[in-house]
Amino acid sequence: MNTEMPKEFFITTAIDYTNSPPHVGHAYEKVLADVIARYHRLKGEKVFFLTGVDQHGQKVQQSAAKAGIPPAEFVKDITQKFIDLWEKLDVKYDEWAETTSERHKKVVQGILQRLFDAGQIYKDKQAGHYSVRQEQFLTDKERGPDGEFGPEWGEIEFREEENYYFKLGQHKEWLLSYLDNRKDAVIPDFRQTELHNAVEKITGDLCISRPKSRLDWGIELPFDRDFVTYVWFDALTNYISFAGYDPSQSNIKHQTSNFLDKWPALQIIGKDILVPAHGIYWLIMLHAIGFPDDQMPQLLVHGWWNLGGAKMSKSEGNIIDPFVLIDKYGADALRYYLMRDITIGQDADFSEERLVTRYNSDLANSLGNLVSRTLTMAEKYCQRAVHVPEKDVIYRDPGAAYEGPFRRRIEVLAHTYKVSCEGDSTKSSAMDVAIAMMQPVEIAVQCNRFIEEKAPWKLAKHKSPQAATEINAVLYTVAETLRIIAILISPMLPKAADGIFDQLNWRMELSGKEERFSLTDAEWGRLPDGHFVGKPVPLFPRIEMDK
Ligand code: MSP
Repeated sequence: MNTEMPKEFFITTAIDYTNSPPHVGHAYEKVLADVIARYHRLKGEKVFFLTGVDQHGQKVQQSAAKAGIPPAEFVKDITQKFIDLWEKLDVKYDEWAETTSERHKKVVQGILQRLFDAGQIYKDKQAGHYSVRQEQFLTDKERGPDGEFGPEWGEIEFREEENYYFKLGQHKEWLLSYLDNRKDAVIPDFRQTELHNAVEKITGDLCISRPKSRLDWGIELPFDRDFVTYVWFDALTNYISFAGYDPSQSNIKHQTSNFLDKWPALQIIGKDILVPAHGIYWLIMLHAIGFPDDQMPQLLVHGWWNLGGAKMSKSEGNIIDPFVLIDKYGADALRYYLMRDITIGQDADFSEERLVTRYNSDLANSLGNLVSRTLTMAEKYCQRAVHVPEKDVIYRDPGAAYEGPFRRRIEVLAHTYKVSCEGDSTKSSAMDVAIAMMQPVEIAVQCNRFIEEKAPWKLAKHKSPQAATEINAVLYTVAETLRIIAILISPMLPKAADGIFDQLNWRMELSGKEERFSLTDAEWGRLPDGHFVGKPVPLFPRIEMDK
């Protein structure tokens, strides 16, 4: 495997089509990537998180024509919607990819020219049935059970067209052997199997162009200005063009350190674009331009958010607008739901009611309630100053071992965070991160139970020094647990983590900044003796569901 490990953690998502505004499905992928990126930053790693938009192509050209505006103007508006959404959702990327940018065009053209010079791209003629309405050639796959093309294709004519082709088929054996040798090329495992089966069926080459007479909203082929490149080289290449790849260097060792420090990436994509786009075309493209096997990206393939069991799609009119949800419930509520109610790799059904139920039970009743009751008790019983409990008080009697269970649990969890990405593969880590993120909320639930059990309000009635010592032990334990919970949930719930830190009066000088959170601080006992906590401010007000 890779002997020289990259110095930066490089994570990418698919770039989103700018033919329609973002929906909840787009939001999920970016939140998932953002949580993983923030988790690595929390561990003190340098992270390069790349995301962006896919602006060229037929769909965009058609949507712009329908709207009666030039494609450039059309994509500008939609691009802005994506940018606004990521800002609202606290998705913090390091680089933004737009496929219409000059920087990207140069890399695409450089790559195409090199492949053309190497004989990997050739011109050929295609003849067949063509749907004028959908502007595409039809194959037998498009025929209905009666053997005819359905009415959705509109008028069908016989056409001949010249185009450029990439010698994809030539690399089939390589891709099979690569997949055989690297078991975690694609995660989860069942997706790697699915890809392997699809690769076995590869026949023929890949059409990579469209005549300008048919599509002009794209990147011109450098060796034939009458054509633009169609989808694949235009979009997939963003993952390297925005990471500093130099197309004039075919030997990867001659790339700049800017690129080599990052690559290879962990790429997060939806299940619909594994086969053939990323799993076949992209990996073969990289191989053909000189990327060795140990420099192939790893593909993390997530499932879909559906609605009533059906795929969310604008044309079906069943999309969920993430802006509306954020305005109603807040960014953290949506982030939490999207991470909590799906298993990576599987599909899930979106339900606003479930979002509210999860929010109320996990965030309002557990975490939010824990913060507010802890600070209210601190105000009431110890003038907001929490003191490190004396060990012998804590452990003297097993019934009073307040600190023990949480301290251990928190330490184990912090340790899990620390190690889950170490080792020679990121295979389990991306999945583990998502699972680990749920645990701090579990600990909050147990912490609430602990408070109920110890009942400081009952102890307070004794008014004895022993009771005061015990109350303090409870409060310190819970405040310290909360401080560490805030660090551990910060990748998933950045706003809430900040709010907890503010209320605990902790690292106030960094309030509102991501640097405020670091895994090295997730160590038991850092809350100093006599620390003054702040006053409670509702963190997650309960949501009453509309009738
Ligand atoms: N532009 C292409 C990808 C090119 S990558 C070089 C594209 N765009 S997309 O806007 O249709 O989808 C972007 C990402 O969002 C894809 O990974 C896709 O799987 C994901 N999702 C789109 N709808 C989704 C759901 N309903 N649920 C989860 N993710 C989904 O594909």
